[in-house]
Amino acid sequence: MGAMEDLRVTQCTRCPKLVESRSRIVNGTGPEDADVLFVGEGPGANEDEQGEPFVGRSGSVLDDQLRTVGLDRETVRITNCVRCRPPENRDPTTEELENCRGYLETEIDRLDPDVIVTLGKVPTEHLLDRSVSVTKEAGSVEEIRIEGTPRRLLICVHPAATLYDRSQEETFADAIERAAELADVDGSEGGQTRLDGF
Ligand code: URA
Repeated sequence: MGAMEDLRVTQCTRCPKLVESRSRIVNGTGPEDADVLFVGEGPGANEDEQGEPFVGRSGSVLDDQLRTVGLDRETVRITNCVRCRPPENRDPTTEELENCRGYLETEIDRLDPDVIVTLGKVPTEHLLDRSVSVTKEAGSVEEIRIEGTPRRLLICVHPAATLYDRSQEETFADAIERAAELADVDGSEGGQTRLDGF
């Protein structure tokens, strides 16, 4: 069973293992009309503790790069494929991903973003429904359908990849720059606002 209010899941017990391992449900954060939606895999220890996606080391990497391209964390939306922390930070199972998929689709549908940026292999494969080498395909844009509506998806490596492998830094940076371009941050009407000049 699960319940969603606005873009927040307030209660859910669909995944017994995750109900056991979580301290709370970690919902997406950011404006409900953001132009860019980042989708990660699932909460880690820091996210589970603080109740917000990408607040640990991966979050700092993401925040830094957002700032570099003139986007601000406060202006984008950030969510995950699963909203409860898997035990020992294992990947979510196919069943857990499916259990949580409706919440993600509802969030995408209501947000209506210009671009969805998948951070890492799990969200990319989950939303594209095929196997993906994110390192090779980072920066490419594909169309997916969510609740019948075509959506632009930009593939990106997970920010944590840059911590383990320095050569991923440029791949990550380039993909985030592309996200900013797709959200039209340079200022034409209706686009995401750049921080330049502030
Ligand atoms: N990694 C993710 O995929 N999601 C988070 O929220 C934090 C780290």
